[in-house]
Amino acid sequence: MNHADLRAFARRRLPRGLFEYIDRGTEDEVALDVNRAAWDALKLLPSVLVDVSTVSIRTELFGRALAMPAIVAPTAMAGLVWLDGEVAVARAAAQMGIPFCVSTQSVTPIERIVAEAGGDIWFQLYVWKDRALSYGLVDRAQASGARVLVVTVDCPVSSNREYNERNGFGLPLRPSVRAGFDVLTHPRWLTGVLLKMLLRNGLPSFAHYPPEFRTEVTRTPASDRVDVAADLGWDDIAELRRRWRGPVVLKGIQRLEDAERAAALGLDGIVVSNHGGRVLDSSRGTADALPEIADAVGGRLTVMVDSGIRRGSDVVKALALGAKAVLVGRPVLYGAAIAGADGARRYLDILRAETERSLALAGRTSLIDLSRELVWRE
Ligand SMILES: Cc1cc2nc3c(=O)[nH]c(=O)nc-3n(C[C@H](O)[C@H](O)[C@H](O)COP(=O)(O)O)c2cc1C
Repeated sequence: MNHADLRAFARRRLPRGLFEYIDRGTEDEVALDVNRAAWDALKLLPSVLVDVSTVSIRTELFGRALAMPAIVAPTAMAGLVWLDGEVAVARAAAQMGIPFCVSTQSVTPIERIVAEAGGDIWFQLYVWKDRALSYGLVDRAQASGARVLVVTVDCPVSSNREYNERNGFGLPLRPSVRAGFDVLTHPRWLTGVLLKMLLRNGLPSFAHYPPEFRTEVTRTPASDRVDVAADLGWDDIAELRRRWRGPVVLKGIQRLEDAERAAALGLDGIVVSNHGGRVLDSSRGTADALPEIADAVGGRLTVMVDSGIRRGSDVVKALALGAKAVLVGRPVLYGAAIAGADGARRYLDILRAETERSLALAGRTSLIDLSRELVWRE
């Protein structure tokens, strides 16, 4: 079983509209391939005749131990792939000993995720037009026990997912024969997720919107005050830095000068990311963007990376290029769509085993032995 098998199972299990929402990119979906191509273009130069009978991939991030250098990425509506999907994924992360980052657009409130899953919970923030409402959410996340604030800065306007308009998963969701057929022909999702949700609370809603603006996930928000802020700027980030008592991370950095600015502002980390190829289709692969950024700011803040990480060898490459950890998005959701926490855990187990194996095959026994000279590129 590997990440591709999990994807194939998830594709069968989920209605097409939902599967494509998770799986696909934006516009011509060039960035999806570019991300993968960039990781694949990197080769490892293994050292041989090294004793690799014991290898360790344990690490530490912002003062906490991690069983492997990975974080489960924030993903909107993870709660739709499985009943209480966000709790399931958070449980898998906690069992594995790695952090789970709750999305602003989660359908399960962070308080419930903390209470039911435990573990190292981070919170991802989309700053809203109405800053006062956003600060209210930040305070709420802090009070819930979230440890790290991850501010996503790469999508000031919504992205162009034409396939979601075609497959009926666009917002607001328009009832159509096609969408109805799609759901009816996926009975396990219909009975295991949708009907149970409907019987319990009705259609799920975005759990972090203020109650007066909370709408079901099938509808657009009740007010533009909770639209993602198109005018988000560095002053906002400075204000969030002042407010959050704990590490603050910017997610979605692709340019060196933005990384420099984050470091100058005293932030604790950045995620080099193009949002898994879901936002700006003309993006560079993150494996290409990472090295210069890590070289410049890696000594001042914690550099992480995501977008297209699938195998343990990708993790080893990312760390050799200067990242301290990776974020993984889609493959965890594929696992969760098949078997909830156990399925998500299955992918994380695979990733751990592959990372250990790749490290050993590279002739290294721990993550601190990873450096640039291990990586070769034509
Ligand atoms: C279904 C889905 C929903 C996502 N929702 C969010 C989100 O709410 N906030 C955010 O910062 N990133 C979001 N992302 C991006 C992920 O956090 C992450 O950057 C990306 O998935 C990494 O690429 P990968 O899926 O190839 O691992 C989402 C990704 C997916 C697949």
